[in-house]
Amino acid sequence: MFSKKDIIDKVLNRRSRQAVVAEAEAFAPTNIALVKYWGKRDSILNLPVTNSLSIALPTKGALTSIRVIDDKADIIRLNHKLIDHTTMFAKRIIDFLDLFRPHATERYNITTMTNIPVAAGVASSACGFAALTLALNGLYGWGLSTTELSILARLGSGSACRSFWNGWVEWQRGDRADGMDSFSVPLLDVTWPELRVGLLLLNTTEKSVSSREAMQRTVATSPLFLEWPQRVDSDLAQIKQALITRDFLLLGRVAEANANAMHACMAAATPSVNYREPATEAARATVRQLRDKGIPVFYTQDAGPNLKLLFLSENTKDITEAFTSIETEQPFLVEETIA
Ligand code: PMV
Repeated sequence: MFSKKDIIDKVLNRRSRQAVVAEAEAFAPTNIALVKYWGKRDSILNLPVTNSLSIALPTKGALTSIRVIDDKADIIRLNHKLIDHTTMFAKRIIDFLDLFRPHATERYNITTMTNIPVAAGVASSACGFAALTLALNGLYGWGLSTTELSILARLGSGSACRSFWNGWVEWQRGDRADGMDSFSVPLLDVTWPELRVGLLLLNTTEKSVSSREAMQRTVATSPLFLEWPQRVDSDLAQIKQALITRDFLLLGRVAEANANAMHACMAAATPSVNYREPATEAARATVRQLRDKGIPVFYTQDAGPNLKLLFLSENTKDITEAFTSIETEQPFLVEETIA
């Protein structure tokens, strides 16, 4: 068994932990998985049971700055608000920073601005840990590759390893016990300018069961999880096929089915996990009704009650009329990568 510190040492490989700038700032986009990461084979290193595939939302994410301070404790701000160290948000950041401090008394001032709700199943931890990893890389002048950054961010939150690129990204599960082969790779040549992702925020209060807890329960107790790895293999192959042939119906159908299968796996756990609220069910029903009317729209759902809708630009009007509060993202509007 390897510890997180072992992995940090391997990746940093004796690089200096002396700040080279007064302050470093970085942005990372959030990412939405169409083939989900659900279940860990190593819950310390966040090593997944399967590969997963996501699409980045280039204008939604986290902008994080970090500097070393002469203080007794870290100072953490989120959207200008000072965050209490007893909160889960602060604890996860402090635990992550503990892995990198050159000495136990090094303290940081971290400021994060985000335009997505935190801990509501909209991948706030993915962009948050990716931005923090990029900011540390800048602060200490490590010059790490995106592969190395992906490995480090994964130690903060699994899905963060997919937040270093725009566009489609695949997280390769890897086989090694130290996780040095478990990182993401961008599918750079596949763009889809007409693709739209709608964020349907139905309830943005913090979820009661964390994805970490829900995954552990699923892996340990859900009989349906036995079939999950095979399911992911087949869904991934179909989605990749859909990307190559620009088959939107195949893409949407497989993505929606994959999300449904993930939620079925957790529903079959003991105790059962359910992130679906009445508003979620109602929105899912509206999506199905729109499809019955011939409008191609599909949903995906993560560890929270909110939905993300997949549709094409030609149907934007139909979708925004049916869901007046939807925030529509154009994943391929920004061409360049961020890292
Ligand atoms: O990275 P975590 O621990 O927040 O897990 C994310 C899990 C899902 O969002 C539900 C699926 C995914 O692949 O992003």
